[in-house]
Amino acid sequence: MILLESLNLVKSFGGVAAIDRLSLTVEKGMILGIIGPNGSGKTTFFNLVTGIFTPDSGKVLFHGKDVTGFRPHRIAKLGIGRTFQVPAPFSKMTVLENVMVSTFIHARTMKMAKEQAKKILGLVRLEEKADQQVLNVTLEDRKRLELARALGTQPSLLLLDEVMAGLTPAEVKASIELIRSLRTKDLTIIVVEHIMDVILSLCDRLAVLDYGSKIAEDIPDRVVNNPEVIKAYLGEHYRARN
Ligand SMILES: Nc1ncnc2c1ncn2[C@@H]1O[C@H](COP(=O)(O)OP(=O)(O)OP(=O)(O)O)[C@@H](O)[C@H]1O
Ligand SMILES: [Mg+2]
Repeated sequence: MILLESLNLVKSFGGVAAIDRLSLTVEKGMILGIIGPNGSGKTTFFNLVTGIFTPDSGKVLFHGKDVTGFRPHRIAKLGIGRTFQVPAPFSKMTVLENVMVSTFIHARTMKMAKEQAKKILGLVRLEEKADQQVLNVTLEDRKRLELARALGTQPSLLLLDEVMAGLTPAEVKASIELIRSLRTKDLTIIVVEHIMDVILSLCDRLAVLDYGSKIAEDIPDRVVNNPEVIKAYLGEHYRARN
């Protein structure tokens, strides 16, 4: 079953196409990786899907319903959650309060919002930091908080934008395990990440962007051996290494 579909999406900034006729389908229950060089349009794609930007043309369908141009709050309520490449938590609030901002999207009472937020902090193993001000937590914890904030909206589709950038190898390993543990038939995930080990250990399928267009889409094994992908992104050293 197709959960998300983009049809011929186009978004330009100052005459330059950041996303160029991008058509992509995401099956329910899968983990799809999106890779590509810096500036190839990965974050812009997330911004188009989540209503931060409206496309110049093309469509976004979620559960078969046209959601193109819906405002971010409405998209979140429909079940698309995301993290931001540059997180902007409410730094003077506590970790728990930050997650409650998200859980309030569905919760009807303060008590429900708090209970739900606590449950999510448990999932991402941040329960012990619940009452700390965000200002005082480590980068790894801020990354986990970013994930918790996305989960707080109870998504059926989760978009992760470089949630492991800047982490140590041990932290990356823990983070991979965490994301694996979130995967269920009811949570479909799209991962944008430059760390290829992360992509290869998590994803069922990969799409590759270059200048806003999709240059490949296939199972990971075939994508990393695709000459066009090696040329545009992975580089010859990657082929040599593997
Ligand atoms: N708000 C914006 N205003 C103007 N140009 C933008 C804006 N957002 C993105 N762009 C441009 O669109 C193109 C795609 O950027 P985007 O951030 O989507 O790339 P990316 O694939 O996420 O890159 P990275 O791997 O570095 O995060 C770039 O040329 C970027 O400069
Ligand atoms: Mg980006």
